[in-house]
Amino acid sequence: MSTSENVLDVRDLSVSFNTARGSLRALRHIDLKVPQNKIVGIVGESGCGKSTLINSLLRLLAPNAVVDDNSEIIFEGEDVMEMGKSDLQGLRGQRISMIFQDPMTALNPVISIGAQMSDILYRQKLTKAQKRERAAAMLAQVGIPDSVRRLDDYPHQFSGGMRQRICIAMALMMNPSLLIADEPTTALDVTLEAQIIHLMKELREDFECSMLFVSHNLGLIAELCDEVIVMYAGEVVEQGNVHDLFHRAQHPYTQMLLECDPARISETRKDLPTISGSVPDLVDLPQGCIFSPRCPKRYEPCNESPPGTFEVGGQHSARCFKVRDA
Ligand SMILES: Nc1ncnc2c1ncn2[C@@H]1O[C@H](COP(=O)(O)OP(=O)(O)O)[C@@H](O)[C@H]1O
Ligand code: SF4
Ligand SMILES: [Mg+2]
Repeated sequence: MSTSENVLDVRDLSVSFNTARGSLRALRHIDLKVPQNKIVGIVGESGCGKSTLINSLLRLLAPNAVVDDNSEIIFEGEDVMEMGKSDLQGLRGQRISMIFQDPMTALNPVISIGAQMSDILYRQKLTKAQKRERAAAMLAQVGIPDSVRRLDDYPHQFSGGMRQRICIAMALMMNPSLLIADEPTTALDVTLEAQIIHLMKELREDFECSMLFVSHNLGLIAELCDEVIVMYAGEVVEQGNVHDLFHRAQHPYTQMLLECDPARISETRKDLPTISGSVPDLVDLPQGCIFSPRCPKRYEPCNESPPGTFEVGGQHSARCFKVRDA
């Protein structure tokens, strides 16, 4: 492990997909840092590249994906792009764990919860009884009542909210350095969603673990995260700490997301507010700023070339000419 304080440091990551229409430029020059013991939120409309970004981190991209040569993904001081097969196996599920939108995708329906949890510990020199004990303790920690008895139950015997709790327990069992949650509460109703977020907040006190939390719910991001990354059409358009970003948003896209939200960040809503116009074609990108076709604030420079990333102050930056010219 390096001495750097970032568990994850993604630099200049660009990913394209080969398609019949040509190269689809799904991610362009992404920079992303996850500091130790911090929760970083990623927010953006469907199709903006959130899952492509996460799959890149674990090198689980579709076969038609091409990662640009300049891209660097440094995890605990090691370049994931340079890792061999066995290093990657050690990475997935052990050093980096995932929680998905649908808990059933992560659970095997025909194996009891206790057996699935014990299987995760296959590398550890523990007796069967000790593994069961660990599993029961983890279930109790995520709020599953009567945890010892419930080890013998199957996934369908739990409610949706309980299943997501089990997935969280499983993700934490390996003591990962990084936990990635890809829209973990989207399939749940608002009450259960609030409970899961509350649980995640509690757990972060007990487990020293950094987290990447993907959501299209601004309210959840504000509640849980330390830092936020706003993505639009394959680019990071703004990033900063939660407070700066929600109170001093600079990018017109972020501003529109917040303005559309009637109660601003306190209102928990299921979807991102709709902004008129549509996301640009990633096979045929506009020449200037990626947001210019929808931007109410565009002016002369916006159509000529894409803006760089400009510092707003501190760790807060935005990809917009207005910040440069302010
Ligand atoms: N294997 C693939 N081949 C072609 N295009 C893809 C592939 N996977 C994703 N895409 C495209 O890449 C873009 C980003 O998708 P994705 O990362 O799934 O976005 P999000 O998770 O934010 O909804 C979309 O335009 C999507 O259609
Ligand atoms: S660079 Fe121009 S078009 Fe792009 S977001 Fe800023 S003001 Fe709008
Ligand atoms: Mg996705």
